Amino acid sequence: MIPQLETAVFNQQPGFDIGHLGKDSTEQGVAPVYNLSVHDAAKQKLDSHSRIKWETDQEDAFFIGDLGEVYRQHLRWMQLLPRIEPHFAVKSNPDPMVVKLLASLNTGFDCASKAEIQQVLALGVDPGRIIYANPCKQASYIRYAAQQNVAKMTFDNAEELYKIKMLYPDAELVLRILTDDSKSLCQLGLKFGAPLDTVDHLLRVAKELELNVIGVSFHVGSGCSDEHAFADAVLRARTVFDQGEALGFNFTLLDVGGGFPGADVKDGITFEKVAAVLGPAVDELFSPEIRVIAEPGRYYVASAFTICTNIIGRRTVGNGLMDPSYMYYVNDGMYGAFNCILFDHQVVTPRVLSRNGRYLYGQNLDETNFECSVWGPTCDSIDCLNKSTYLPLLEEGDWLYWENMGAYTICAASQFNGFKISKVVYTNTSL
Ligand SMILES: Cc1ncc(COP(=O)(O)O)c(C=O)c1O
Repeated sequence: MIPQLETAVFNQQPGFDIGHLGKDSTEQGVAPVYNLSVHDAAKQKLDSHSRIKWETDQEDAFFIGDLGEVYRQHLRWMQLLPRIEPHFAVKSNPDPMVVKLLASLNTGFDCASKAEIQQVLALGVDPGRIIYANPCKQASYIRYAAQQNVAKMTFDNAEELYKIKMLYPDAELVLRILTDDSKSLCQLGLKFGAPLDTVDHLLRVAKELELNVIGVSFHVGSGCSDEHAFADAVLRARTVFDQGEALGFNFTLLDVGGGFPGADVKDGITFEKVAAVLGPAVDELFSPEIRVIAEPGRYYVASAFTICTNIIGRRTVGNGLMDPSYMYYVNDGMYGAFNCILFDHQVVTPRVLSRNGRYLYGQNLDETNFECSVWGPTCDSIDCLNKSTYLPLLEEGDWLYWENMGAYTICAASQFNGFKISKVVYTNTSL
């Protein structure tokens, strides 16, 4: 808790009414939600640091988590894809305040495990709003889903059908099919998704076992850069719906998965582009009685989190006389929040947050930049965040910030080498 900030709670117009969210009383202790811009929230955090440095862990890296941004992404979804019910993919960022906010906004949830289901149910979410979207599930987790009436679950192989028949014969099954994910950062088809030429067999096995298959799902791959991949996948799903109907199933659910873009990148794919292709494709091929859901993860959280890291060391490369370049060491890294570089194929770029006590968020500094590399705090040389970038000359104690760090970051962070997982300062911005 940052005492200087406590007085600032709710001192601005919020981006949405946050009163019902209360405070995060989970692992972080009681964390307030501020109504400050990201600029001001990070500034007050830095300003709150004691000048007697050795007394606290005040240099620890921290996130600014902007719940207002998550909310705006939700509004954007409802406006552009009103027919498709978002089920937030908890795996992308199980932050307790994000999940709580989305539960209060009545989204559904895509859970990958028992713990994620527990987290969502603990908020009072109706089990009917959850899809257990993991095609290969641990037996005891299926039993748990059965106990909790979390009926909707995906499968993509016959072995899973036999398992479900034993453990949860009344489950509402969703057949996950393989789609073209060649334009995605993370190609999930390497691991999951039934090829179309196996669908007939799988549906026949399900029929024989008297299982209730209610529909079809797909995932075009996370970080998809081609909106047409969604339309192509919808077409494949239509084929499978027709196969199901021919075999006597009554499919009522289409799940268009995740893969929606997070932060808007210049000249990159946008949510608007995806919605303009996906919405009409669904309407054209699926009658209004078919319920359509999606499993967006990155979309909701990527742009909502900014991480601020402290420069804990600097090394001048060579003798520093001709064309000096530098190595900076910061206090979160590849084994922490920046695991997204390895696991999520992200390229991350630092900006200067403060230098020599001067706060510089959002400013483009008009001065000489030097080539540098930026490294995390562990003793492993893989722990490199950016091999070559340009920054003004910085000193130990200065701060960097990194935007769009909300998806697949904190959730997979480890404490390797004894470093703590960076905590979140919550704010609720309005535009
Ligand atoms: C089954 C499933 N659904 C949804 C998601 C979320 O994907 P994204 O974050 O790209 O929206 C994932 C990500 O791995 C997934 O495996």
